[in-house]
Amino acid sequence: MVRIAVIVSGGGTNLQALIDRQKKGDLGNGEITLVIASNPQAYALERAKNEVITSAVVSRKACQDSAEFDGKILALLQEHDIQLVVLAGFLSILGKPVIDAYPNRIINIHPSLIPSFCGKGFYGLKVHEAALAYGVKVTGATVHYVNEIPDGGNIILQKAVEIQPDDTPEILQRRVMEQAEWEILPKATAMLVKQIEDESKQG
Ligand code: GRF
Repeated sequence: MVRIAVIVSGGGTNLQALIDRQKKGDLGNGEITLVIASNPQAYALERAKNEVITSAVVSRKACQDSAEFDGKILALLQEHDIQLVVLAGFLSILGKPVIDAYPNRIINIHPSLIPSFCGKGFYGLKVHEAALAYGVKVTGATVHYVNEIPDGGNIILQKAVEIQPDDTPEILQRRVMEQAEWEILPKATAMLVKQIEDESKQG
């Protein structure tokens, strides 16, 4: 089994997509064994409880500084012997201690076609507001490796989504989630599960 941790901050619809695909066997030997929320109110925690998945809260606000935040997250990941970390609607930043402990083993879903509309300040609805303001005809979602640059790691998968003339940021966000995020995040997770298994077989 490949033990997966999903780190969340909000509604957890991407976590739900991962859970649903795991149940269908689409994650291969990958199993979500831990959910960490950076926000105690995250509905994603309810989704984890409904599936009897171990969950924990590491509140960014309750930590003195990023070193404490990173230290607590890293301790949880190591305690649960996690092999793959998936950021799904995670709104904080993981620091060097965590990133260095999991080289090419932390992935993130971003709701645009990177390098457009990404980086500092581009999250949630703001991404879709920027896409609509610019007037792009196509947007989408990207799964990428996580490094120290926000949304800066190598791209793993992308999926394009057409913008409709009367789209609002909310309507567009929903379409990007349904047609892109909830498809490519499980797909990328399954790809990495396979890669981790193959590497462990090679010893
Ligand atoms: C959404 O804006 C999504 O596009 C982005 O994070 C936000 C919440 O996602 N990835 P989730 O419902 O918590 O997975």
